[in-house]
Amino acid sequence: MPEHNVERVLISESEIAERVEQLGSLLTEKYRGKNPLFICPLKGSVMFFADLLRKIKIPCEIDFMAVSSYNSNTVSSGEVKILKDLTCDIGGRYAVIVEDIIDTGNTLYELKNMLEKRNPASLEICTLLDKPSRRVKKLDPDYCGFTIPDLFVIGYGMDLDEEYRNLPYIGVYSNT
Ligand code: IMP
Ligand code: MG
Repeated sequence: MPEHNVERVLISESEIAERVEQLGSLLTEKYRGKNPLFICPLKGSVMFFADLLRKIKIPCEIDFMAVSSYNSNTVSSGEVKILKDLTCDIGGRYAVIVEDIIDTGNTLYELKNMLEKRNPASLEICTLLDKPSRRVKKLDPDYCGFTIPDLFVIGYGMDLDEEYRNLPYIGVYSNT
């Protein structure tokens, strides 16, 4: 049974696992021999990041970053602030940003521009979820787990006011 405030399960644990494995295989083939750097923007991406990395079967490195997007609101502002920067230099590296969800695109658009200035050899985006109907900025992920309609989702790392990140599935939030 879904918990309180979960209207329904949108994507189950097994559906997530199956898709994450497919994405891992795609990235494994794409980046073989390139020692890619996978970047996890905290905190929403942690579950996806940890699961995806275990499906990548080539040598690679990881790093973490924190940028501000939502406060106690459910719409991002278009202004992005670095709260915690990467610890490694991405110059000349094959970098992949691993994101939980692209909504308006504001956060990732700014983050991508910021990181492009550091001259990586390449910079791709792998997102678990995409809500293209909400897009404000022109931004297309290179890899996407699931395209979803305009719904506010929680679980598998994603939150509402820091709650629900620990749900093992992706649910539709309901405030009734
Ligand atoms: P954007 O800047 O509007 O694309 O928002 C990006 C960030 O907002 C994502 O990385 C998530 O952390 C958060 N976000 C967007 N939509 C949702 C949602 O439906 N549930 C939970 N978090 C979301
Ligand atoms: Mg995020």
